[in-house]
Amino acid sequence: MTKIYLCETNEIEEYQTKGFTIEIGDDSLDFFLLKLDGQIRAFLNFCPHLGIPLNWQPDEFMSLEGTHIQCSTHGALFQLEDGYCFSGPCRGESLTPLNLEIEEDNKVYLVSTEDADKQSDTA
Ligand code: FES
Repeated sequence: MTKIYLCETNEIEEYQTKGFTIEIGDDSLDFFLLKLDGQIRAFLNFCPHLGIPLNWQPDEFMSLEGTHIQCSTHGALFQLEDGYCFSGPCRGESLTPLNLEIEEDNKVYLVSTEDADKQSDTA
């Protein structure tokens, strides 16, 4: 298990996202954080439709309305709470969540598991 410091919780505004690419061993892990109701979530930056990154611009993963995660290629929409795709070519599939640990001093850490490492191999 690997624990990697990412940022502090106050570096992300409500309904905003922040992208990261980090090296774990020989692999590169591309993912983003989302703040929703004060809680930080993490998902792989990997659209289930074609297996490509969701965003064209750094840190831009939200729909124009700011209500959902949106893939910039074909417009698939994903729920903020769980990454479930309810509209678009990958409807019924989901983004891959990653494990985070938030410490008392509001520091956000990625807790890497084997599953996340395997998923990044296919990205
Ligand atoms: S690549 Fe994401 S919706 Fe097609």
